[in-house]
Amino acid sequence: MSESLIDRAIEILRLNDRGTYTVPTSGLYPFQWNWDSALSALGFSYFDEARAWTEIDTLLAHQWDDGMVPHIIFHEEDDGYFPGPDVWQTGRPVPTSGVTQPPVAGFAAKRIFDRAKDRDLAEARARALLPRIHAWHEWFFRCRDPEGSGLVAIIHPWESGRDNSIDWDQPFAAVPTEGVQPFQRRDTQHADPSHRPTDEQYKRYIWLVQKFRSLGWNNDKLHDASPFRVVDPGFNAILIRSCADLAELADALDEPEIAATSRARVEAGIPALDALWSDEFGQFLCFDRVQGALIQSASIGGLLAAFAPISQDRAAALAARIDDISSRTNYLVPSHDPAAPEFDSLRYWRGPVWLIVNTMIANGLERAGQGDIADRIRTDSVRLIRQSGFAEYYDPITAEPCGGEHFTWTAAMVIEILNLHGEKA
Ligand code: DGY
Repeated sequence: MSESLIDRAIEILRLNDRGTYTVPTSGLYPFQWNWDSALSALGFSYFDEARAWTEIDTLLAHQWDDGMVPHIIFHEEDDGYFPGPDVWQTGRPVPTSGVTQPPVAGFAAKRIFDRAKDRDLAEARARALLPRIHAWHEWFFRCRDPEGSGLVAIIHPWESGRDNSIDWDQPFAAVPTEGVQPFQRRDTQHADPSHRPTDEQYKRYIWLVQKFRSLGWNNDKLHDASPFRVVDPGFNAILIRSCADLAELADALDEPEIAATSRARVEAGIPALDALWSDEFGQFLCFDRVQGALIQSASIGGLLAAFAPISQDRAAALAARIDDISSRTNYLVPSHDPAAPEFDSLRYWRGPVWLIVNTMIANGLERAGQGDIADRIRTDSVRLIRQSGFAEYYDPITAEPCGGEHFTWTAAMVIEILNLHGEKA
C-alpha cells in the first residue's frame, strides 16, 4: 500500500515539474513558490538527486542583490493568478514578488546532502548553494531584525505562508484599505471561495504590496515603514533550524566562518524565542512588534516552534499541548485550536491540517525525544492521504480535501514520511 502511495506521489511531482522548478499545482499556483519548492526538493531527492538540487538552485538563482529570496518567481506569463508581476513591479529581469517566505532551503539542502548517494554531485551543489542560503539568512537579521533582538519580523502575512491565520486578525486591523486599486481575484476561480481568505483580507494584502512598491522595494525602509510587523514563532523556528543545519553543512564543507556565524544566530535565537512562551496557552505565541504585545491566538505557529532546537522541557510541553488538541479533532495537527471561536475547519490557515507543517513539527518533536506524538502526527498525515488524496490541505474533523488538488508539497511530504518511517506511519 505505501509503495503505491509513493508511486502516486511521484506522479504528482512529475505532473507539476516544469523542468527546472515545480509549480505547487497548476491553475491556482502556476509559478515557482519559495518554500513549496525547497520542501518539494526533498521528495525529488529519493528518485532524482540532480533534479532535487536543481529545484533549490533555480530558487536561489532569483535571489535579490540584497540577499532576499522572493516568495514567487514568475517564470512564465500566466494571467490566471493575481497579483501578477504588473502589481508587484519589482523590476527584476525575471519578474518576482517583493516579499519572502519561510526559509526552509537551509534545512532542505542539509537533508538532501546527508542522504545523497552521489557524493560528488552533493558536494558540488551544496558548496554552490551554501553562501547564497547564508546570505539570505543574514539578510533576515539585517533587514527584519534592525534592533538585533535575535528574532525577525514578517511584514506581510504572505511571508509567513499562513496567509489568513487568526494570528493576523488583530495586527491586520492596523493595515488600511483606502487607496487600494481595484482588482479581480483569480484564486477563487480555481478553488472554493469558502476555503480561501476573504476579500477584506485581500484588500489589506494589496495595500501592503502598494505601500512597499511605493518605497521602491528598498528593504532598508520596508520593516520600519510597515504597519504590520509580527514576530511569528513558527517562522523564526524555521529560520533558527535552517541556521543550525547550515552550520553543520558548513562544517562538512569546511567553511568555518559560515558555520560560526550561523551558530551564533541559533545561540541568540533560542532564548529570544523562549520569551514568546505563554504558560496560559501552553505554547508559543506571536508578538506584535507594532503594539509591543503578545497576540493571544492559539495557532499552529506556536507549535511549529518545535522545529527549532528548543529545550526538552518546552518540547515536552508542546507534545502535551498537541495531545490536548487531539481530543478536539480527528486528525492532527489543526492549524488553529478548534476550541477558539474563530476556528474554521475549511478556511485555509484558520483550522485545516497541512502536511508540510505536520512533517516539520513531527521532525522537531522526534529530535527532542517526543517520538510518540511525532508518530501520531505522521500516522494522521498518511491517514488523510489515504482517505482524501493529495490535496493542498484538509478539514481536521472530516478529512474533506480543500484548496488545490494534486499538490506538489503534499506529495513530497508523503514520499518523505513513508521513506523515513515506512508503515509505522
Ligand atoms: C496565494 O496566492 O494564495 C499565496 O499564498 C500568496 O503567496
